[in-house]
Amino acid sequence: LDNGLARTPPMGWMSWTAFYCEIDCVKHPTGCINEQLYKDMTDRLAEDGYLEAGYHSVHIDDCWSEMERDSNGVLVANKTRFPSGMKALAKYMHDKGINFGIYEDYGTKTCGGYPGSYQHLKTDAETFAAWDVDYLKLDGCNINLDLMPIGYPEMGRELNKTGRPIIYSCSWPAYLVDQPQKVDYNLIGKWCNTWRNFDDINSSWKSIQSIINYYDHNQDKHIPTHGPGKWHDPDMLVIGNPGITVDMSLAQMTIWCIWAAPLIMSNDLRIIGKEFRDILLNKEAIRINQDRMGIMGRLVANTTDIGLYVKPLSSESPEVSLSFAIAILNRNLSTPKSVQFHLKHLGLTNQFGYRVREIWSGKDYGRKMPHDEVEIRVNPTSAALFRADPLAGNEPRFEK
Ligand code: DGJ
Repeated sequence: LDNGLARTPPMGWMSWTAFYCEIDCVKHPTGCINEQLYKDMTDRLAEDGYLEAGYHSVHIDDCWSEMERDSNGVLVANKTRFPSGMKALAKYMHDKGINFGIYEDYGTKTCGGYPGSYQHLKTDAETFAAWDVDYLKLDGCNINLDLMPIGYPEMGRELNKTGRPIIYSCSWPAYLVDQPQKVDYNLIGKWCNTWRNFDDINSSWKSIQSIINYYDHNQDKHIPTHGPGKWHDPDMLVIGNPGITVDMSLAQMTIWCIWAAPLIMSNDLRIIGKEFRDILLNKEAIRINQDRMGIMGRLVANTTDIGLYVKPLSSESPEVSLSFAIAILNRNLSTPKSVQFHLKHLGLTNQFGYRVREIWSGKDYGRKMPHDEVEIRVNPTSAALFRADPLAGNEPRFEK
């Protein structure tokens, strides 16, 4: 969507995959959908380095409203769990430099059974603008699928009419996984800044792996329709959650960065371990993800266990050649794998070679020529992430 927003992939924190629709704040006082949860995460983003690294929004997901609209048909935040109201919560975030994301659903009800926006699109867009919302995730439960190409653009127009810049995230194609012939990414990209296109993630390797598989299989449709202002969203980062190891975290962060995917965490930032935080905050990985060209990386070599991906990056001296990110995913569940590759086979042909570094280990491979072999060992359910910057003829050789 060409509204000047989301020129690089959105980054932030969203509640769903860590806290779902937990509304029992008596039993779960620190893990339920209430204003304190979002204030806590705002504080963590602002104070623990996330905001500085680029994670700049906090998103409410489902289950935030009253079960009924008010007598004017306006949505109301749940009065017990959001006693200060949404505008006050937005202010709390904005005062700390954090953007405010909210959730609604195009259907008659949200997936969790709360009032949906169907036949209320205009009112809801105006309500969100009045609450100082910066980002809307519009889900697609409880609606006739044939209405989606009408309703999603309609909400886009209503948001636009409010005059407030609001990033627009559509779940539209995620509900058409079984009817791929109905998915037109050019149309979706015209109306939405970002969109979910596959199943919900959960905190398991099986789920991460199934998303990667789906994206691998559909990359020829995804890559040309992805870029500044229009991002395919493979769903939230589950790094730091129970069930996700450090290796799995490296794998998810690597692949989401090579795809230029939105980096929206769903975890508990109040108790996250340092080893996971360091992965989420890795500057080099984020720099690859946020590259201004916004090109989605491509799977270029594939075996049962290993996937090798390449993503072109803008370089400081484009007249010389582009930079590249290279990812190597080991899908094997138990065995580390050694992988060798030649840069020229990946399309890296600069005649003076590249300075090659692996980001997670920090290892500098020095200057590598296109015909040189690069080798690395990758743990099971993990990944390596390289950056290759082109060198000019007169630069000193980088020796190992
Ligand atoms: C389905 C979406 O895909 C999830 O991300 C989450 O928003 C739930 N609905 C909420 O009910």
